[in-house]
Amino acid sequence: MSGITEAAGTRGYRVAAGGRVGGTLTVPGDKSISHRALMLGALARGDTRVTGFLAGEDCLATARALGALGVRIERPHETTVLVHGAGEAGLSAPATALDLGNSGTAMRLMTGLLAPQRFDSTLVGDASLMRRPMQRVVVPLAMMGAQIHTREGRPPVEIRGTPHLRAIHYSLPVASAQVKSAVLLAGLAAAGETHVTEGTPSRDHTERMLGAFGVQLRHAGRTLVMAGGQPLRGTAVDVPADFSSAAFFLVAGCLAAPAGLTLTNIGVNPTRTGLLDLLRRMGADIRVHPRPRLTRAEPVADIEVRQSALTGITVTEAEVPLAIDEFPVFFVAAACARGETLVRGALELRVKESDRLAVMAAGLATLGVEHRLLPDGLWIRGAESLAGGRVASGGDHRIAMAFAVAALRARAPLEIEDVANVATSFPGFERTARAAGLGLEPL
Ligand code: S3P
Repeated sequence: MSGITEAAGTRGYRVAAGGRVGGTLTVPGDKSISHRALMLGALARGDTRVTGFLAGEDCLATARALGALGVRIERPHETTVLVHGAGEAGLSAPATALDLGNSGTAMRLMTGLLAPQRFDSTLVGDASLMRRPMQRVVVPLAMMGAQIHTREGRPPVEIRGTPHLRAIHYSLPVASAQVKSAVLLAGLAAAGETHVTEGTPSRDHTERMLGAFGVQLRHAGRTLVMAGGQPLRGTAVDVPADFSSAAFFLVAGCLAAPAGLTLTNIGVNPTRTGLLDLLRRMGADIRVHPRPRLTRAEPVADIEVRQSALTGITVTEAEVPLAIDEFPVFFVAAACARGETLVRGALELRVKESDRLAVMAAGLATLGVEHRLLPDGLWIRGAESLAGGRVASGGDHRIAMAFAVAALRARAPLEIEDVANVATSFPGFERTARAAGLGLEPL
């Protein structure tokens, strides 16, 4: 599968100041769900047909890695993927290290999937991924008997395949869907019942999708219980549009859509839509129109947003995981709100594709927004309007897109550096942004 996308050659964006957005838009498929559909499809018996697949660099990296493990994957259409399941014991040793590009999700979930295999494997990635913490998955997997080596907790991740893992009871020390998912993937191949307890809920796509593949899994309060050794049956996965990609246009709509803006077919799993609650608390006018569920595992809706005056809020620590990927654009909303916004308990933002607290704070400084960078969060005093200028994205897709939205309230054009990674999660962002009304051009 080829990974060429439109933004690959784009070094930066120049975004005109001010303007309006509107219309009816859709955004590409959900990244988290697309990764999982490929991985569970690979482990399943029989074929899995994935529609609405995100053909972004991150998911293509997962597809290539599974291909290197002997899984046959076809893409008859840009967003349709056919995974010919290899079955639980059907993967084969890769010839070289698996390169997972910019994707933390791919690396952490693949670590869980590869730990119980009969062969060894090594996982690497781009400069950003090679800096990210992997100890969080190594610790529980080692408790299961896995043998994994890292360089002081960071990639490369060297896995010595250990087919006889033991199920564990694990209480997640950080709210992380990636860690939960890595343990569940390893637990599929382990002897006994795996128990995973979450203090604060994180996205539950893995649990939902395991159910769709025929795996029995139960909830006992905050604990998930799954017996090892269950086979997966190939199925059809219809991936909704990614709420995290819709988020940029939800905020754009709050700032500059006097006649309204509608986003269609968006995944509205409650473990993902924390941003809706935060924006509503700030005074946003957002309406969610659910679509009929039929048989799909994930809820989907059209979301309508209309420009409104926003007021600053305090975000509690428990709200952070439910909006974890939306903070870059949430900070833009806060920068344009009346009054102060405070986010604490968001230490995780420092270990995403970039240090999102530091990179956002630097950009807000350029835009003339009063703010304070805290060890685990950010305090922001909203401004009437923002200065223009040149901001760094830190090579972070979501920060690049968040600052493109900020231009709607700027007095002068905004230049955003280093935007190639937008293609990891949102191929076609430039086109969609222009269709919405943003004056965005390659730099
Ligand atoms: C993801 C989980 C989150 C999120 C990431 C995708 C997933 O990470 O930030 O973009 O697909 O499981 P953590 O599990 O580290 O919070």
